[in-house]
Amino acid sequence: MTGAASVQDGGVLDGPCGHLRGFRADDHASGQPGIDPGWDEDGDRVEDGGRLDGSDLVPRLSVLHLNVAVAEYGFGDHADDADVNLTHLSTSELTRHRDDLRREYEALQAREFALDLTRGKPSAEQLDLSEPLLELPGAGRHRAGDGTDTRNYGGLRGLLELRKIFGELLQVPAEQLVAFGNSSLELMHECLVHAVLFGVPGLARPWGLGTGTAFLCPVPGYDRHFALCEKLGIEMITVPMNAAGPDMDEVERLVAADARIKGIWCVPKYSNPSGIRYSEKTVGRLARMHTAAADFRIFWDNAYAVHHLTEVRHGLTDILRLATAAGHADRPFVFGSTSKITLAGSGVAFYGASPANVDWLTGHLAKRTIGPDKVNQLRHALFLQTAAGVHAHLDRHRVLLKPKFDLVQRVLTDQLGDSGVATWTVPEGGYFVTLDVLDGCASRVVDLAAGAGIALTAAGAPFPYGKDPDDRVIRLAPTYPPLAELAEALNGLVVCIKLAAIERLLDAPVTR
Ligand SMILES: Cc1ncc(COP(=O)(O)O)c(C=O)c1O
Repeated sequence: MTGAASVQDGGVLDGPCGHLRGFRADDHASGQPGIDPGWDEDGDRVEDGGRLDGSDLVPRLSVLHLNVAVAEYGFGDHADDADVNLTHLSTSELTRHRDDLRREYEALQAREFALDLTRGKPSAEQLDLSEPLLELPGAGRHRAGDGTDTRNYGGLRGLLELRKIFGELLQVPAEQLVAFGNSSLELMHECLVHAVLFGVPGLARPWGLGTGTAFLCPVPGYDRHFALCEKLGIEMITVPMNAAGPDMDEVERLVAADARIKGIWCVPKYSNPSGIRYSEKTVGRLARMHTAAADFRIFWDNAYAVHHLTEVRHGLTDILRLATAAGHADRPFVFGSTSKITLAGSGVAFYGASPANVDWLTGHLAKRTIGPDKVNQLRHALFLQTAAGVHAHLDRHRVLLKPKFDLVQRVLTDQLGDSGVATWTVPEGGYFVTLDVLDGCASRVVDLAAGAGIALTAAGAPFPYGKDPDDRVIRLAPTYPPLAELAEALNGLVVCIKLAAIERLLDAPVTR
């Protein structure tokens, strides 16, 4: 994630994805991993009388892990433990800290928490913001702008007034946008199933025929995307995610060489789970790149298009326009929904694409339904009114969400900032924070947390088949719990991270 980032003070890297904490400010400028005292220039641990020889760990400790930021470190109230970099401690020092932490962990267990950091869903207070929807459209108010009686069958593409609002936000002309159902994930599933069974415009050969089908999966990514591929037997090829989007050299190399690769998953803005935003250059390369498969598709899941956490409403380069200009009009499938704008279970989903793709999908949808829920679409159009109305509504969400994301940063920075055993993203939008712990520790952290009554997303979830090859990444979802619960969960999580790290450093895992 170091790629296109620029350096800010205070150990925070600023890049298109927002920031990444856990770096020392001079590291990136030199283009080298920072070499803390105790590590030589090859990244090997320097022996230092009586200290732990961690050289076996070093190749698996990424740049992210070696360098640490600002802030205070503390085991509970032990002031003498402040500012300790765990990776610099001797065996005896580590043992002492581990014993302290075990006591803290037992105290956590005694509190019998039932806390949950797994759920990337809106809180009840966020849903309350859309309560007026429940009274709309209201008796006697069932006609859409063009006179359509929304109560009746038909209108497969959805209400034009709603498509106009979201066409602007999703960068798709309203006539090329379909409003359908309550879930964009469902539309992604539709697209994949129909592609596998029947093929897509341009090459009417089912993806399911022949020598196999593969998808590129930038990691860490969204587990439900990967679950769709797994269900349909689509091979998943991972590509590293950088600060500006997927590693495009790797993407271009792979898609040019292998006609089995039919698509790529992209969450281009405030990505799930890292918060990354794709740069203009990345979007341009995706739009223009040569693919061996003539029927290649970009699944452009713009789920967090308007979900800003700061006052800056970051934009996104228009993939549909660029791909069309590059002669690849059929390449992008754009998805979005109001799930995290209005009511997560009763929103409206969108699909935008070239006219040929829109005809293709609606042709298939027409066989399974006579039309979508237009009453719900009408109530959304009446409630949100305009694209500006959507932004204003999301500003109210931000008031509720920002303190939660700020709390995550504060607890992690204060308690892990100098520990050398964790780094994390500082998203400027979306619903998640990605936390990287020492290699080999993520599943142990999740297990320890579970043992203390703190549910975390399964380690490995942001990777295809649920397997993180480095066992390093943990997805934090701070939106749902109330602030007080979030604080308890984060404080407990910190204990688990330190304990798992020390066990790893001592290479002596303990069973509970
Ligand atoms: C990236 C991404 N896409 C899609 C979804 C689900 O969207 P929907 O509710 O529209 O199916 C989520 C939900 O967390 C998500 O994070």
